[in-house]
Amino acid sequence: MKEEHRLPQPKDPLAEIPPLLLTWYDNNARILPWRDNPPPYRVWVSEIMLQQTRVEAVKPYFERFVSALPDVKALAEAPEEKLLKLWEGLGYYSRVKNMQKAAVILMERYGGELPSSREELSKLPGIGDYTSGSIASIAFNIPVPAVDGNVLRVISRVTASREDIVKPQVKKSVEAAVAKIVPERAGDFNQALMELGALVCLPNTAPLCSSCPLAGICRAYEQGIQGELPVRQKKAARRVEQKTVFLLVMDQKAALQKRPDKGLLGGMWEFPSAPGHLTLSQARSFLEEKGFCVQKLSALKPAKHIFSHVEWRMQGIYALVSSCGEGENLVWRSAEELKREVALPSAFEPFANLFYSLCG
Ligand code: ADE
Repeated sequence: MKEEHRLPQPKDPLAEIPPLLLTWYDNNARILPWRDNPPPYRVWVSEIMLQQTRVEAVKPYFERFVSALPDVKALAEAPEEKLLKLWEGLGYYSRVKNMQKAAVILMERYGGELPSSREELSKLPGIGDYTSGSIASIAFNIPVPAVDGNVLRVISRVTASREDIVKPQVKKSVEAAVAKIVPERAGDFNQALMELGALVCLPNTAPLCSSCPLAGICRAYEQGIQGELPVRQKKAARRVEQKTVFLLVMDQKAALQKRPDKGLLGGMWEFPSAPGHLTLSQARSFLEEKGFCVQKLSALKPAKHIFSHVEWRMQGIYALVSSCGEGENLVWRSAEELKREVALPSAFEPFANLFYSLCG
């Protein structure tokens, strides 16, 4: 076919993203504690914290963490209790445990520095496709993609794609498409895509298209379907678990136990509990069978905690006890000790607060 008869090819909208987005980023990027030309260690810590956690929630944790553990060596050598206390309330505690495992490897094999290649980074515990891309690009300016949920949403909309972003092959193809357009300012570009997703290209029906630098090239906006995208397969409904949580108090100290190493909140401290919602008399029998002498017993306000796959509906029971049986793996901590030394998952916070007000 002769040149002049060829139909005009639709332009690839992705190719037009970098200049538009970087100009926008230069004027709109939030000032964040891990953004000002940070050493790789700070990038790493921030990217791990930002997995599944909002920027605003991460900020205070980040400052505290890097002050207490300023480098890879300090992280590798930190006692686990200190580490978990610094992470207390952020959730997904395996993130920080993996980070310490990685820090030990970095001390043994990499002279305490993070490697700059994406491939080497992804060999470390806790570093997957997204995180290896974000660290390589932000800390070392290597031109690789870093595709998180925000980026999947932006790209699905710009290309008006109805592919299900939960599917691994769809994520792979978005990564491949972004890899082709990463410009020289790789770290800024990847952060700009995330930033646009966090501030403008908002989920569901809320995108702020009138302030979007990509509105002129966005196929979803052109077709008026931005609120329908991205398509994401519905998750299975969360399982609901009922449990009875005991605030057991003896001599002004509360009982705590360690959770099993594997599974939800693996290896974390918790208040002792029993499956199901026990009545007061069932709770009394339960405690007496375990050898406690129950002095006072009262029901507490129920509490609920939502994890990604499970929801706990907790009946709280306060029990003042005077002796305890053998064979229980309980430790007893004062309010002061609990506050200062023990990393207690947020699910138990209502009961911990009550203990502080009773015995603090
Ligand atoms: N989410 C994950 N990493 C981020 C970053 N560097 N900036 C903003 N949001 C993020």
